[in-house]
Amino acid sequence: MKEYKRILVTSALPYANGPLHIGHLAGAYIPADIYVRYQRLKSIPVMFIGGSDEHGVPITIRAKKEGITPKDVIDRYHYQIKETFQKMGVSYDIYGRTSSDIHHQFAADFFRKLYDNGKFIQKSSEQYYDEEAKMFLADRYITGECPHCHHDKAYGDQCEKCGTALSPTELINPTSTVSGSKPVMKETTHWYLPLEQYQEWLQEWILEGHKEWRPNVYGQCKSWLDMGLQPRAVSRDLDWGIPVPVEGAEGKVLYVWFDAPIGYISNTKEFCDAHPERGTWEQWWKDEDTRLVHFIGKDNIVFHCIVFPSMLKADGSYILPDNVPSNEFLNLEDDKISTSRNWAVWVHEYLEDFPGKADVLRYVLTANAPETKDNNFTWKDFQARNNNELVAVYGNFVNRALVLTQKYFDSVVPAAGELTEYDKETLKEFAGVQQQLESLLENFKFRDAQKEAMNLARIGNKYLADTEPWKLAKTDMARVETILNIALQLVANLSIAFEPFLPFSSEKLRNMIGMEGCDWNQLGSIELLKAGHKLGKAELLFEKIEDEAIEAQVNKLLATKKANEEAEAKAQPATPILPNIEFPDFEKLDIRVGTVLECQKVPKADKLLQFKIDDGLGGRTILSGIAQYYNPEDLVGKQVCFIANLAPRKIRGIESQGMILSALNADGTLAVTTVEKPVNPGSEVR
Ligand code: MF3
Ligand code: ZN
Repeated sequence: MKEYKRILVTSALPYANGPLHIGHLAGAYIPADIYVRYQRLKSIPVMFIGGSDEHGVPITIRAKKEGITPKDVIDRYHYQIKETFQKMGVSYDIYGRTSSDIHHQFAADFFRKLYDNGKFIQKSSEQYYDEEAKMFLADRYITGECPHCHHDKAYGDQCEKCGTALSPTELINPTSTVSGSKPVMKETTHWYLPLEQYQEWLQEWILEGHKEWRPNVYGQCKSWLDMGLQPRAVSRDLDWGIPVPVEGAEGKVLYVWFDAPIGYISNTKEFCDAHPERGTWEQWWKDEDTRLVHFIGKDNIVFHCIVFPSMLKADGSYILPDNVPSNEFLNLEDDKISTSRNWAVWVHEYLEDFPGKADVLRYVLTANAPETKDNNFTWKDFQARNNNELVAVYGNFVNRALVLTQKYFDSVVPAAGELTEYDKETLKEFAGVQQQLESLLENFKFRDAQKEAMNLARIGNKYLADTEPWKLAKTDMARVETILNIALQLVANLSIAFEPFLPFSSEKLRNMIGMEGCDWNQLGSIELLKAGHKLGKAELLFEKIEDEAIEAQVNKLLATKKANEEAEAKAQPATPILPNIEFPDFEKLDIRVGTVLECQKVPKADKLLQFKIDDGLGGRTILSGIAQYYNPEDLVGKQVCFIANLAPRKIRGIESQGMILSALNADGTLAVTTVEKPVNPGSEVR
């Protein structure tokens, strides 16, 4: 592997239109911080760049909704997010913002250089225009009926009900959300980066040159490249953003995904201008001896692996990312985290509810990091990891070692005498830990790395449990001295090993043991604390989290779930009742109960299930369009209500003799109707 002189680390610039949730932290921020802290500990020159992404349509929508300006929105969230990062120990060198003058200037210059060098193509196309509001409509500003699931509030870029990606022209009955009017098609001109010109180079660079990238990242890149790249618009018709620096481009701004990644560079410049001793921004971005690493979530892969590198390549003077360790998504209690549905643990709220416990969240999010696949956060797991691992293993070991030293040696580190075989074995186990941790951390395997650190604490715990110094104190004080010396060396090692993961606790621990500095290269040493060194006062490193605290969090989520369900029910009022009918009309319907004998999917029909029903009269076949809502096996044995005298109909060549009754739920799902207690097959329903 190439030797680098310095490492430049970025983590995705979060949109300043809402607070941070745990999914953000787990996806891009905690991993980046662990990596950066580790490199700093090794005294590698490293720069950690972050900032708010303050342009884009969602910010303008939010502002409109609240009747404030986009600037109000970004000011509110930029400072809140910045503070949250700081409280979580995410140790940026700079946390900038893309609304800054320096960024506006930098991004405009970047565009202008590509423009002057003929790197863009200009194209006209027809786009939706709101004649009342006199503006072109961003995809998100248009709603209409989804052509796939017929949800009536799909957005111009996506239907949130069925998840399909849309383009605004696919919407049935499009409406402008700005004025409520029907938009019209109007011609507009934009600048495009012709990505297809970079296709071959990207294939070579990624598919041949970066086989070491995580499989999820490499795979996504490959499928984009396999599909063939198209020109990408780098400008938008919008009044919020960086004006396109070209004559005659009034009313047009740089596309947010064009300017935001340039924010990594402009923020570096802002930092270096203020800290010349840390080098120039050009050194960090243009010197081949810099290793560039982007930490992101999986929805950002294409922008960081394909679009941004093409921009840098088009300029020609920049280095390219050496790795893009992207995480998958973190779910919350088995449900997708969603800002609009408030299904999230908001980090600033967590910090209020669990003061002083930033490290606990860091620990749990790393333990469950979605490094290779989507993962799940549950409050129960959060509690268990705190109580059974941080408290019972790490905290307990530290506490025992310190309290015993306090008791027998007045908190002065005793000298080690002769080592037994068992002592040597124990010491051997943590002699190799530095190397192990390094190879995991260098390969972005933070979950395993943290496990390895915790394993050290387990070794310590076991060592004390096996050697039982409290029993030896009466008979063999020399032996107790050796045991506690070893235990204390282990404790000191833990403060180093955990430093990248749990920086607050490591610092607290070092204060407790009076250890100055934290040198990664000393990890594994058994002389971190000299005999005669006076320890500070023993305190608890972690505290138990009680059931009540967890229940409160679970209840909060339950309340959210309930509110969402109510809102959904309200949004979709029950269908109006049909006109009255006379009783004889009702009597014409023969509704019966039958027992499902067999149930299977109808081949090549997504929706159909074929039932064999015991109707008390020899059995019959009925088809029902509920395959999306049930596993066929689960219905066998159930008693269902069906219309027994509906004229038979042939569907897909199969005769359906009746109709199974299902309830249509507000969300469009179907639930089969059954009876409340078992009845004879063929029983009438009246
Ligand atoms: N704001 C984007 C998101 O949250 C990430 C921007 S990353 C950058 O998805 F590279 F554009 F800065
Ligand atoms: Zn849909």
